[in-house]
Amino acid sequence: MMSETRRMSLSDPAAIGSGAAALLAGEVVAAPTETVYGLAGDATSGEAVARIYEAKGRPSFNPLICHVADVAMAEHCADLSPDARRLIAFFWPGPLTLVVPARADSPVHPLASAGLPTVALRMPVGALRDLTERVDRPIAAPSANRSGAVSPTTADHVLRTLDGRIGLVLDGGPTPHGLESTIVEVGEAGVRLLRPGPVTAADLEAALGVPVLAPDPEAALSAPGQLRSHYAPFGIVRLDAAAPEPDESWIGFGPDPDAAAHAAHRANLSPDGDLREAAANLFAILSRFDGPDFPRLAVASIPDDGLGAAINDRLRRAAAER
Ligand code: TXA
Ligand code: MG
Repeated sequence: MMSETRRMSLSDPAAIGSGAAALLAGEVVAAPTETVYGLAGDATSGEAVARIYEAKGRPSFNPLICHVADVAMAEHCADLSPDARRLIAFFWPGPLTLVVPARADSPVHPLASAGLPTVALRMPVGALRDLTERVDRPIAAPSANRSGAVSPTTADHVLRTLDGRIGLVLDGGPTPHGLESTIVEVGEAGVRLLRPGPVTAADLEAALGVPVLAPDPEAALSAPGQLRSHYAPFGIVRLDAAAPEPDESWIGFGPDPDAAAHAAHRANLSPDGDLREAAANLFAILSRFDGPDFPRLAVASIPDDGLGAAINDRLRRAAAER
């Protein structure tokens, strides 16, 4: 990847403009919020979101929090229930993330929400909010650390694990909370705490006037969004295939001379064999082939380096026995 990470102080009046220009060019930028530093990328671009996973070196695609500038931007992304609106009125901007049903026409790319029907939204305080305003689109941002490292609360801390892996870090000094946002799922049954954080259960109950729901033991067994069954398409999936059998639909990677002849049953993660493009296409292709018209799927072998590890993790879940 790139060799040097540029660092700009937020006291420099050009900092937000530089960060916004990088985001609009599809690059990733580390920037502070009131909780921790986030690794920001344009949530509407699959390739930008792929770059986030690439820089973090995550071996799997966890859904990311999408940061919004205002309530109108949240409404473009999700259906907001009365409970969601009440929490927004009480706590935004601030350290509370809402997991809510995504709108069918949401601009958020499926890779940012890892193919889930829900989206995690929050309006932060600080430079990351200024960036969402400037680019006027949602920004996906996990904590700005390499996978497995502690969430960063200073720019030095960001550079400790991401130096040379990202183009720019905006330095706003230490973050006020130093702890990631509280995450709640807002559903038909009520409001459920998924991750404790600066907004407490008591704060939530005071705002809602009713108790928050206990964590779901089923969901607690694995990280949110990691439930294996969610990723299984309708058909049987065969991995590391050299070519499709006559009764199989084909998900290729790399040049496919037969693509045009069997278009309805052929897709390609990346004809050029580019892992970033493959990551960006993965969820759309799995969902296109998720139905009774596609009882058998064969998937080409994907190299396991870089983003390939996360792509293979997702494909293995799709192929798992059920
Ligand atoms: O304070 C924070 O929340 C920071 C700053 C940068 O905003 N961000 C952060 O993001 O902590 P991250 O990616 O490290 O954590 C996101 C969490 C993950 O545990 C993920 O599984 C969960 O949010 N999440 C995201 N979308 C979800 C969804 N649709 N359903 C359930 N969980 C979701
Ligand atoms: Mg994190």
